[in-house]
Amino acid sequence: MTIKKIICLPDPRLRLVCAPVEKIDDEVRALMDDMLETMYDAPGIGLAAIQIAVPRRVVVMDVSGKDDPPAPMFFVNPEIVWSSEETNVHEEGCLSIPEYYEEVARPARVRARFLDRDGAPREIEAEGLLATCIQHEVDHLNGVLFIDHISRLKRERVLKKFAKAAAKRAEEGM
Ligand code: NI
Repeated sequence: MTIKKIICLPDPRLRLVCAPVEKIDDEVRALMDDMLETMYDAPGIGLAAIQIAVPRRVVVMDVSGKDDPPAPMFFVNPEIVWSSEETNVHEEGCLSIPEYYEEVARPARVRARFLDRDGAPREIEAEGLLATCIQHEVDHLNGVLFIDHISRLKRERVLKKFAKAAAKRAEEGM
């Protein structure tokens, strides 16, 4: 397992629509292991493959509390197949948008269909943090970021801030 570099705003790859996984083999499982290790190291509770620059529909998550034993979850080709009308507001952050947090309203409950680590089809119903996290990660697979769900004014402010920081890093030759 290897800790990979997480790509950040304004990296244009974060806007790619990722390709479905055709076959879950050892290579895909190795990718999931690297993603999990990278996510725990960050630390974060969810990571999509594109965040380590792999444009495939793979997500890892662990929404267990910090005093609970680790509970890694693996999602291949996840799809939200049902969302509640009722919404819920959660403060979200993203490892690709470091140190920025904002409240986002999303459906409170969702049903997701996906393939597990062994390629078996699964379906789960999620609420609370799990529901928020799944929606946030599935968004990543479609090139959507949580800042796309906030006001335009706030989004433009954060985009500008990260673009400016990137320009400064380029200037300094980092
Ligand atoms: Ni994210």
